[in-house]
Amino acid sequence: MGEEIDLMINYPRSKRNVEDRGAKKTPEDRELARQFGEAFFDGHRDHGYGGFSYNPRFWEPVIPTFQSHFNLTSQDEILDVGCAKGFMLYDFQRLIPGIGLKGIDISEYAIAHSIESIKDCLRVGDAADLPYDDNSFDVSISITTIHNLELEQCGKALQELERVSRRGSFVTLDAYRNDEEKERMESWNLTAKTMMHVDEWKKFFLDVGYTGDYYWFIP
Ligand SMILES: C[S@@+](CC[C@H](N)C(=O)[O-])C[C@H]1O[C@@H](n2cnc3c(N)ncnc32)[C@H](O)[C@@H]1O
Repeated sequence: MGEEIDLMINYPRSKRNVEDRGAKKTPEDRELARQFGEAFFDGHRDHGYGGFSYNPRFWEPVIPTFQSHFNLTSQDEILDVGCAKGFMLYDFQRLIPGIGLKGIDISEYAIAHSIESIKDCLRVGDAADLPYDDNSFDVSISITTIHNLELEQCGKALQELERVSRRGSFVTLDAYRNDEEKERMESWNLTAKTMMHVDEWKKFFLDVGYTGDYYWFIP
């Protein structure tokens, strides 16, 4: 089993009115968001990000945490599963020049609107069926992505991360530790199809053979 560790500790968290966001959501909003198209990234706030643009303040403080945890150097190659427009990978490239990068995302819209200088490293594809050979990457990372799949596909996606990674991996997943957090999560959630108690996730990791590191997204 991997390590439970918050490698996103330096990611800026916004103040959100969780119950308010939940109250306004309709099943139609969720259906549209789950298409991961323009509406989710750059449409109205009810359907997702409400505008998804690069800003170094998000990933710049996080990259050094990944770098020291995984001893990353310019000789290494990393994969981002659910890379969206490539913002995290772009900052990896800026802060560890020369590091090998690949990103994959289900969203044709996000890849088409990704950062121009790393577009060639990105492709459209499914986390549950990665188009890479075994042990292709030193480290694979997947941030708030895998819980968007149904449970069985989540298991496949975790096994895929395990399969393509030589040295390690890290995922963050929607989770809760008590009833209050569960209620808040259900209210906050727009796209996730699998949200579990942290202990259920840990048992799931054992069941599917995921040995990478992990942490939780808890609104
Ligand atoms: C909440 S966003 C997170 C994006 C990015 N990892 C970040 O932290 O900024 C979730 C991402 O997962 C992607 N996604 C959803 N289902 C996926 C799948 N089956 N395979 C790959 N990517 C998927 C979406 O298109 C979206 O870019």
